[in-house]
Amino acid sequence: MRLLVTGGAGFIGSNFVRYVLRHSDHHVVVLDKLTYAANLESLKGISRERFRFVKGDIVDPAVVDDLVGSADAVVHYAAESHNDNSLRDPRPFLDTNIIGTYTLIESARKHGVRFHHISTDEVYGDLELDDPARFTEQTPYSPSSPYSSTKAGSDLLVRAWVRSFGLQATISNCSNNYGPYQHVEKFIPRQITNVIDGVRPKLYGKGENVRDWIHADDHSSAVLTILEKGRIGETYLIGADGEKDNKSVVELILKTMGLAPDAYDHVVDRPGHDMRYAIDSTKLRTELGWKPQFQDFEAGLEATIQWYRDNEAWWRPQKAATEAKYKEQGQ
Ligand code: NAD
Ligand code: TYD
Repeated sequence: MRLLVTGGAGFIGSNFVRYVLRHSDHHVVVLDKLTYAANLESLKGISRERFRFVKGDIVDPAVVDDLVGSADAVVHYAAESHNDNSLRDPRPFLDTNIIGTYTLIESARKHGVRFHHISTDEVYGDLELDDPARFTEQTPYSPSSPYSSTKAGSDLLVRAWVRSFGLQATISNCSNNYGPYQHVEKFIPRQITNVIDGVRPKLYGKGENVRDWIHADDHSSAVLTILEKGRIGETYLIGADGEKDNKSVVELILKTMGLAPDAYDHVVDRPGHDMRYAIDSTKLRTELGWKPQFQDFEAGLEATIQWYRDNEAWWRPQKAATEAKYKEQGQ
């Protein structure tokens, strides 16, 4: 297949590009606007034999239509992706996540092109800490933040285009990803790079919030599985049974980096902070036979820490500006 991968210069999109070129014969064109979150260095060294990069905005129908028209499938990762930014300035989230997705699905329906929409478990809102339940494909949507509400809106657009226009689409909602090449604004890389800089990690509020961590390679293998074997019109939840509270993650980072596990600070909590996310990925495992490869979070985190130690040139240019934004909010 000729795949058009939107947002392929971001954290998870670039992981998918590397994964697909390693594990399939597909050809890849990346369409990416190169926002603050992108890094072309994440695609460095990829052979041009089956890969091409195009700089452009998914909101622009002229750019989108040519590329969608010459693809067999679109894998749509491009998004404004950070909750804290969405609380500071929601507008770009509406433009990219809602209008950008609309622009892509209009073009995909016109050309009859297969579409896979990448989304998040945050569309389901949050769970209580003591609730035995996990999210399933049947959980009602109840997003909390501008980020998650625009992702929920984009999911609903895709569902409506499937039903009303016969769009050949699937949707996946994945839990929190970790691994190399993640922007330093996000929780795990922020704390690792703080420790490298001799700065104490910052925990929002009490640090009791739980996230369900999955390695980005496992997210990519799941998306490729759904693209190749998923049933049109279906939603698949992607998760690897990796629930951890934020405090435990920070303690593990500190311990792994040779510091006292309590050498962190509590800072101002995020407004509307979702308490817990947890994924039940039974449907994906039983229907499509997918399973995660990274079952050992400690080992995955250790390798990620080593990657940030070895690749300072990749993250250093973004670090000071990111921390300046957090400082303004007491975080
Ligand atoms: P990211 O912020 O690292 O990358 C986003 C990429 O999209 C960047 O390269 C950026 O330049 C590009 N982009 C943004 N606006 C664009 C536009 N208008 N036109 C073209 N390109 C544009 O994000 P990520 O963490 O890699 O997330 C990728 C996708 O996965 C998103 O859809 C996100 O909602 C979803 N997701 C992320 C997680 C997670 O833990 N990070 C979990 C589940 C789902
Ligand atoms: P984040 O990586 O922003 O992902 P999301 O909001 O999509 O879950 O944050 C993960 C968790 O870590 C979330 O509960 C907020 C918390 N957090 C901190 O405690 N400190 C930080 O410096 C950051 C960036 C996040």
